[in-house]
Amino acid sequence: MPAARPYRDPVTAIAWETLDPALPWLPDDLVSLAGLPEWAALSPAERRRLSQAEFLAMADLGLWLESHLLGHLGRAAPRSFAGGARGYAMELEELREEAGHSLMFLKLFDNASATLPRIRPRRPLLAAAFARLVPTGSGLFWAAVLIGETVAVELTRRIRHSPALPRAVGEIAALHLADEVRHVALARRRLAETLPARPHPLAGALLRPLTRQFLAACFHPAPALYRTAGLARPEALACAVRRNPARAALARACLAPASRFLARRGLEIESGG
Ligand SMILES: [Fe+2]
Ligand SMILES: [Fe+2]
Repeated sequence: MPAARPYRDPVTAIAWETLDPALPWLPDDLVSLAGLPEWAALSPAERRRLSQAEFLAMADLGLWLESHLLGHLGRAAPRSFAGGARGYAMELEELREEAGHSLMFLKLFDNASATLPRIRPRRPLLAAAFARLVPTGSGLFWAAVLIGETVAVELTRRIRHSPALPRAVGEIAALHLADEVRHVALARRRLAETLPARPHPLAGALLRPLTRQFLAACFHPAPALYRTAGLARPEALACAVRRNPARAALARACLAPASRFLARRGLEIESGG
């Protein structure tokens, strides 16, 4: 039996009482309006509230994606078990960590409820269909996991290293980042094992719209989010963000490590349709 990694329960590891509503919960350059005249026009209180709404929306999207991943890892458990103790232990650790993240996000919503109502961002519905249909443990499955977890790592890294956020936000980011870096490494290892030398062209054709919709769900909030944050003209703000070049550049930068890794293995996830 391989030695299990020491485990810290995120629910008890975070100093929840430090989730200060008087501070922003995201660095400015991660907020969707950053770089636009609409951002410059907001008051400091409006900027702070928007950063809090967007942080909660990110957590909610993470919670939703993790529910699909937990389902797959759970279904794959009997096969992983039969494949040997080492691989089984790695997948059990990932399952335990994802369950911990999801409990951490639920606890975050509890602690944030006095500051903002629960944010329910748009769901990437192609990802939902894909999660239902894709065989667990296939190359396509691990490619989708790699895309989701790489974006999570890149966003979390930027939050982690940002000063002036509440200590609880930094702790959530640090904990999630440490785990997700390992999960990305596992996804890459599984892809090296499962992806054929020449992936079928259909694989890229499936992953490209999936990736586009996932990035839109992450980086282009729906008008409801701006409404929840108390901003005027929420539809116009959502529209401006879809045309915000700084936002598009951030999305590309967060996807880039996964995109490069998959391109080297014959899977183009960024261009075409
Ligand atoms: Fe996670
Ligand atoms: Fe993960």
